[in-house]
Amino acid sequence: MKLCVFHTPELTPDQNYADCAIAIDVLRATSTIATALAVGAEAVQVFSDLDKLMHESESWMPEKRLRAGERGGSKVVGCDLGNSPLDCTPQLMNEKRLFISTTNGTRALQKIQASPTVLAAALINRKAIVEYLLKQQPDTVWIVNAGWEGSFALEDTVCAGAIAHTLAERLDCSLEEITGNDEVVGAVTLYQQWKENLLELLHYASHGKRLLKLDCHDDLKYCAGLDVLDVVPIQREIGVLVKNS
Ligand code: MLT
Repeated sequence: MKLCVFHTPELTPDQNYADCAIAIDVLRATSTIATALAVGAEAVQVFSDLDKLMHESESWMPEKRLRAGERGGSKVVGCDLGNSPLDCTPQLMNEKRLFISTTNGTRALQKIQASPTVLAAALINRKAIVEYLLKQQPDTVWIVNAGWEGSFALEDTVCAGAIAHTLAERLDCSLEEITGNDEVVGAVTLYQQWKENLLELLHYASHGKRLLKLDCHDDLKYCAGLDVLDVVPIQREIGVLVKNS
C-alpha cells in the first residue's frame, strides 16, 4: 500500500485517482459527518454550493431532512444547523438525511468524488479508517486535506499523520514502505510531535483560533479526541456518504 498526502484540494491531482481517497477536515466537516452517521443519520449528502443544497433537499420530506450550512465558521441563515458535530444528537439525526455545505470540507470531498472509494476521516474515527484500510488493502491511497481556502491546515495534517503512523505500525513496516510523497513524512512527524497534546495543537491552528473566537471551545475539545467513534463514512453514490457496514 502506498499513501500520498495532499495539503489542499487545489494541490490534489485531477486524474489518475488512487484506489481509495480519504478527505480530512478535522475542524469540522468530517468530524460532523462521522458523528452524524454514527448517531443514526440515514446519509450525509455534501454540496459545495449552497443554492444547489437548498434546491436538491427541497425534494425530500421536511421531516426526513436536515440542512446544515457553514461559512467562515458560522451557521448559514436559513439552515437548520451550522457545522458543529455536537449538534448531531441521536434524537435529531434519527434516520434523517443531512444535507451539508461547508467552506472547505465539502470541497475536499467533491475533489475526490470520482475515486473508486471515497472515505471521510477525522481524529475521532482515525482507528476505524485504519482498520478499513487494513481489511481492504487498496494499492494506492490519497489523503486529501481540506485546509483553509487553499492553504495548509495543521489539524488536517496531524490527522493525516495519525492515520499514516498507525497504518505503518499495524502493517509492521517502515514508514518508507508506505510513503508515496514527502507530505506523508511531514504529516507523521507533526503527529509524533503533538500526539499527546492534540487539543493544544488545535488551539494553535488558525481555524482553531477562528472557532475559539466564535465560542466553539467544546467543538475543539470533541474534534481533538482520538478514536472515539467506530464509524467509516463511505461514498455510496456521488456526493452521498453512508456508514460502512
Ligand atoms: C470547513 O469546511 O471549512 C469547516 O468545516 C469549517 C467549520 O469549522 O465549520
